[in-house]
Amino acid sequence: MKLFIDTADIEEIRTVARWGVLDGVTTNPSLFARTSGRTYDEVLKEICQITDGPVSAEVVADDLDGMLREGRHFAGLADNIYVKVPMSETGLEALSHFRAEGIKTNCTLIFTANQGLLAAKAGANLLSPFVGRLDDINQDGMIVIRELVSIVEIHELESEVLAASIRNPLHVTQAALAGSHIATLPFKVFQQMIQHPLTDKGIAQFRSDWDKARKALEQSRDQAAGARAGA
Ligand code: E4P
Repeated sequence: MKLFIDTADIEEIRTVARWGVLDGVTTNPSLFARTSGRTYDEVLKEICQITDGPVSAEVVADDLDGMLREGRHFAGLADNIYVKVPMSETGLEALSHFRAEGIKTNCTLIFTANQGLLAAKAGANLLSPFVGRLDDINQDGMIVIRELVSIVEIHELESEVLAASIRNPLHVTQAALAGSHIATLPFKVFQQMIQHPLTDKGIAQFRSDWDKARKALEQSRDQAAGARAGA
């Protein structure tokens, strides 16, 4: 499963890239709003210099002309931009235009398998069901991931399922087991995936045993040298 980071924070993206586990980036207007001092274009261009994986840039227009104008503009910023289009009647129409123009897309705000099926048929390269926001309203968001992965496989659709709105490491494991092609994670979830108390305890124990062994070796060598000097 490919792992994307769900952020517009450059330092977070650089950090995960350094770990060697970064396959792409998703942004949205809310994530961009958490950055400051730069335009969305500037942030996107810098992200595309850090990774050559897909970088999602979301349109905010709700009319077709606006979506097409914004999407074409984003697609012109870098080769690895994927235009993020919300699920709606207009969104589907925009997706089919972008497909005809060879512009890569990510259909966002998917909450049912049927929405995902429609997005795939309209030509979306990536289908983004939101797991966490469904969990928030007491619905099992992972069901949509499982259903959509099955639909894509059964009907040999070309789209990839991107598990979005991931809130914790368990979501990542469940999405991977469900066969999701991609998951996009907040930086915090990447960190949580690394951490385990037994790993920390094990590292401390190995360090302590290593130090003890070195001290014991030094002592036995000192004693041997002392014995030789006294002989
Ligand atoms: C992904 O592309 C979305 O921007 C993101 O995963 C939404 O996550 P949220 O529900 O935590 O805002």
